[in-house]
Amino acid sequence: MPDGFLWGAATAAHQVEGNNVNSDCWAAEHDSSSRFRCPSGDAADHYHRYRGDIGLMAELGWNAYRFGLEWARIEPEAGHFSRAVLDHYRRVASACHDHGITTVVTLNHWTLPRWFAEQDGWLATAAMDRWERYVDRVVTHLGADMDWVCTLNEPNVVAVVDSGGGAVAGPDEAPPVGGGGIHALSAWPSDRLSVFAEAHRRARDIIGAGNGSALVGWTLAVEDLQAAPGGEAALAAGRAMMQDGWLDQCAGDDFVGVQNYTRGVFGPDGRRDPPPKVSRHDVGWELYPPSLANACTYAAQRSGVPVLVTEHGVATFDDELQLRHTQASLSELAGAIEAGVDVRGYLAWSALDEFEWFMGYDVTFGLIAVDRSTFARTPKPTARWLGRCARAGALTG
Ligand code: BGC
Repeated sequence: MPDGFLWGAATAAHQVEGNNVNSDCWAAEHDSSSRFRCPSGDAADHYHRYRGDIGLMAELGWNAYRFGLEWARIEPEAGHFSRAVLDHYRRVASACHDHGITTVVTLNHWTLPRWFAEQDGWLATAAMDRWERYVDRVVTHLGADMDWVCTLNEPNVVAVVDSGGGAVAGPDEAPPVGGGGIHALSAWPSDRLSVFAEAHRRARDIIGAGNGSALVGWTLAVEDLQAAPGGEAALAAGRAMMQDGWLDQCAGDDFVGVQNYTRGVFGPDGRRDPPPKVSRHDVGWELYPPSLANACTYAAQRSGVPVLVTEHGVATFDDELQLRHTQASLSELAGAIEAGVDVRGYLAWSALDEFEWFMGYDVTFGLIAVDRSTFARTPKPTARWLGRCARAGALTG
């Protein structure tokens, strides 16, 4: 892999920290009509155990960690910022740097402060000013600690789910669509692209003014979209809805974060279900090892900026399957890099067994197992293999 390639894994604050009580998601989990299999509760208690977790990542050999900041903790009431929480995230970043681990920081991974959600969320006229105030405070406090910044996580996810794709593990009976889903209290704006593009631009400008050296981009759900014979028009329509407009917004960014889990095949009548016999994630999506390389190739071509793989993984409790799929996907990715696609790193999803949104703890993508009663951490074979690759700077056995 190229010099300086990032090797590691990612988490999102709400999915691992635990007790994110001031967020809209926590409220939704505890609502009487909750669609969550269980509440997030203590999650992996990463909020308190981050130091050990980062030490373990370093021991494994990883050289990068993508983690999220939780807006609902940083600004639990409108305009009231917690210095203690901002200091906490500085300590998380320092723990990474003490171990030579590059920080990839997500400013918002879907969850919102409850007060923001209750005041119309992203639909409010004041939403952009509220977001700017938050980003400004973060950059002032943490500016120099962030090496790479992902402004928003998968703002295109609703478009992907609407089209029948698999970007989020939803409840069995109905996928999270439209205004529902993760943001149970705050509907997603119907004109999502322009709202989130504006939020992204504003964040990028604030970061640029406050910390010239951080590399800035956003992360997108990028499935490997393909046409079966006769499916070309449906493919073009699918790409237009889920990917193209979003990738076009990356012009002027330092990178685009690609998050890939599967492929989507279009026939003349639209998106097809995968054939019954294919190998699948525990959440039903097809496991197709070339999908990551193909998604990176398309994202790099369309956006014109370098790619960082900010998520890729397997929903499974089968360690062998996780290792096999990760190795096969990365060897395809190495081929794409050799062919000239500019990919700067690979961050697996996810560093720890995590709260998988609606599916709770019945599903996991983790590379490091977390015992739900003792919180003990146990690296899986994939975590060790990734560390060996990081040390070698190349795919190894
Ligand atoms: C999200 C993660 C989620 C993963 C698997 C991605 O779209 O960013 O938060 O856990 O998919 O569903």
